[in-house]
Amino acid sequence: MARRKIIAGNWKMNMTPSEAVKLVEELKPLVNNPDVDVVYCVPAIDIVPVVEAVKGTNVQVGAENFYIEDKGAYTGEISAPMLIDAGVKYVIIGHSERRDYFKEDDAFLNKKVKKAIASGLTPILCCGESLEQRELGVTMDWIRLQIKSDLADVAADDVKNLVIAYEPIWAIGTGKTATSDQAEEVCAGIRALIAEMYDEATAEAVRIQYGGSMNAGNAKELLAKPNIDGGLIGGASLKAEFGQVVNA
Ligand code: 13P
Repeated sequence: MARRKIIAGNWKMNMTPSEAVKLVEELKPLVNNPDVDVVYCVPAIDIVPVVEAVKGTNVQVGAENFYIEDKGAYTGEISAPMLIDAGVKYVIIGHSERRDYFKEDDAFLNKKVKKAIASGLTPILCCGESLEQRELGVTMDWIRLQIKSDLADVAADDVKNLVIAYEPIWAIGTGKTATSDQAEEVCAGIRALIAEMYDEATAEAVRIQYGGSMNAGNAKELLAKPNIDGGLIGGASLKAEFGQVVNA
């Protein structure tokens, strides 16, 4: 069975609530494509207005983060039940910015993956190598370590519904995209790893996105690759250009 493409915007720390609603309105006619899953992963404060603004459209809303406990004394954090109650379907886990700036390690990310799944959120699990690692030739070793640790004790049926995003750190926000061959090579490697960890059916079902300076100019070529099932888009998700990526 062909995997359905999934194009997700990662707004990062951009868009005030009123700007967010304006952007959703602007994008509405541009992202209306029934053949693609379209997701906006938005800052926590934008979730409620964006869920309201996308009602009746093909767009689903994702969170950029959450904490692994359901409730309690965790000042400043947001829980999975809160996201679910607000209408959130997806959550980004393991983005390189959170691994780097907020020191989230694989053991913690594994807890987040399990908590998200148990709560009914679909994880968009990010992985990717630094430029130094690519130049050392350890890209796939690094990604195998990330995926194996982040998915420890996660069942095959849950992995089938998962989204994995391959985001080479050197391509994020730099304007330097991986070539479609480079991206395909790693995405195929991730699928082979899932087959090795689970089975062929799970590997065939899991959706793998590419992320890193994806835009209207390069989306078509990247999305034509057999193992690239979508994109996780930063900068280009904040403007009308996102519609062109969805329709690529
Ligand atoms: P850019 O598209 O801005 O490079 O960001 C990619 C990204 O980090 C998406 O999660």
